Amino acid sequence: MNDASSRPTLVTTVDQLRRAVAAARADGRSIGLAPTMGALHEGHLSLVRASKAECGVTVVSIFVNPSQFGPGEDLAAYPRDLDADLDKLAECGADLVFAPDNEEMYGEGHATWVDVGSVARPLEGECRPTHFRGVATVVLKLLNMVGPDRAYFGEKDYQQARVIRRMVADLDVPTVIRVCPIVREADGLAMSSRNAYLDVDARRQAAILWKSLCLADELVSQGERDPRTIVRRMREMIESAEDARLDYVALVDPDTLEPIERIEGPVLAALAVRIGATRLIDNRLLKM
Ligand code: PAF
Repeated sequence: MNDASSRPTLVTTVDQLRRAVAAARADGRSIGLAPTMGALHEGHLSLVRASKAECGVTVVSIFVNPSQFGPGEDLAAYPRDLDADLDKLAECGADLVFAPDNEEMYGEGHATWVDVGSVARPLEGECRPTHFRGVATVVLKLLNMVGPDRAYFGEKDYQQARVIRRMVADLDVPTVIRVCPIVREADGLAMSSRNAYLDVDARRQAAILWKSLCLADELVSQGERDPRTIVRRMREMIESAEDARLDYVALVDPDTLEPIERIEGPVLAALAVRIGATRLIDNRLLKM
């Protein structure tokens, strides 16, 4: 096990990965997987720490998955820095890093895709119609390659976590899915690799996402029960930031992600906002 002083072992092929995992299993160790696209920040490292606390060996995958980016999205620009990532992973004691290239992940003739159904349709699914097909497919492939006891995802991508839980249940994948809390900057901005795109002015404006989620929470605790009123107030607040453009803001059922008519229990506020050219998402569970 890595004692947090040395870099994790780096493997780039499925064969090497399977051999390393089999050796750990033969030693009787349990396996945790934190799937990532690299450009690691504290949010990712919290997944690694959660895995370290529960599992004998922690595997981190680093793969910028082309199939979850739509046409015109930021696949080419997505930040990549494997060297810096390995240093960060050494600090928190990750054991094994799997960093394949596109050919290793999607062999010639790849033609099978995972469609998770209704939970993948609203919100992000509406704005990015092929996104969850790409996410579900690559996550299922990673789960099949590693065979972890537990896999760790962040709650910032709330809908992604719902999609993965649905897929794992429906396809009988023998991995426990853990969803870890959002890690935020001092002004509440959720940590994201895409925050690196923000210049100083856009970074200042990006705090409006969290502020609007706090407003929603405040309105619910003051007794507001009409989701339309809350969405309108959040929309007005977000649109007050000069470079903000709303993709969506919605109050939905936390399980189905369907819109709700009236607040009668816990509700999820979810939003996607463009600050200039940078698209950010965030969410908060609102409790009565
Ligand atoms: O959350 C992410 O970084 C990605 O969607 C994931 C789960 C690593 C799949 O590419």
